[in-house]
Amino acid sequence: MEDFLPLNGTDHVEFIVGNAKQVAHYYKTAFGFQDLAYAGLETGVQDRTSYVLRQDKIVLVITSPLIPESPLHDHLRQHGDGVKNIALWVDDARKSWEETTQRGAESAFEPYEISDEHGTAVLSGIKTYGDTVHVFVERNNYRGAFLPGYKPLNREHQPAPVGLKFIDHMVGNVNWGEMNKWADFYARVMGFTQLISFDDKDISTDYTALMSKVMSNGNGRVKFPINEPAEGKKKSQIEEYINFYRGSGVQHIAVATDNIVETVTALKERGVEFLYVPNTYYQDILERVGPIEEDLEPLQRLGILIDRDEDGYLLQLFTKPIMDRPTVFFEIIQRRGAKSFGKGNFKALFESIEREQALRGTL
Ligand code: FE2
Repeated sequence: MEDFLPLNGTDHVEFIVGNAKQVAHYYKTAFGFQDLAYAGLETGVQDRTSYVLRQDKIVLVITSPLIPESPLHDHLRQHGDGVKNIALWVDDARKSWEETTQRGAESAFEPYEISDEHGTAVLSGIKTYGDTVHVFVERNNYRGAFLPGYKPLNREHQPAPVGLKFIDHMVGNVNWGEMNKWADFYARVMGFTQLISFDDKDISTDYTALMSKVMSNGNGRVKFPINEPAEGKKKSQIEEYINFYRGSGVQHIAVATDNIVETVTALKERGVEFLYVPNTYYQDILERVGPIEEDLEPLQRLGILIDRDEDGYLLQLFTKPIMDRPTVFFEIIQRRGAKSFGKGNFKALFESIEREQALRGTL
């Protein structure tokens, strides 16, 4: 069957934040992103500032409102700093909008063309869970730094990258009872297929439970796991997220590296904080996951988790929330063949998250 929504990959992820200048500095200094482009007062934009940062194929847009009338304030008031737009790179933004809205997607904005001296881009958008939007970006006739309206940015202060390559997957937390609705949305409206499903028997500790379905587009370049809280003895991390984000939204962005030991070492040196697993996790780890190419010592020292599936293994580690509210975090992942998402680590991980929740008084 022909893919009615062919996606070339993730185009960019746009955060709405309180102070874009300082948040952009954080992603450069702590995560090794590089200046790419800028829009704001100096480029004739009166109501917002956007910094565009890049590391290999990962592009982040960090945006703040400049005037009190800006609707971006509604996003900030509700959600705090968070992800507003998951932009997808397409060859035809008009057709993408038509195919998805015909199948029931609610339009965020109709297709429009935007041009400058470097060419033309076409943008359109549909709404997904919460206030999150999928922007379709057609840029095959555009040669500028980012998109029309943005000027190239290349400031003197430029910390080195840390080896992040591309977005492996992006997870949405959705409200109670809504996982199937949104899994069905990705299947019906966007033509995705379901890779995996977990229920609360797979993913639970004494306290925390959740359910998850992993949705993937046809060529596998875009994967969206969808989590829903499940009843546990205490408040799960998904429920904590929903409470603080005031509804459904992006929970984590998993970014891939070819060398997780080097990447995590650099991130820790720059002050990125990670979840901590107890040393007991490593006691019989190689019996659980089988032989791996890496030395165990640096993995254990850095707290990197290991999991295996029928295709191979993966190494992963999760940051603490990077917002003031306990909402969005990053995952660093290195795949050695494995196509799954670290199910074997969920229990150890959730116990780690519960320790953090207990400190916040939200367990
Ligand atoms: Fe993940």
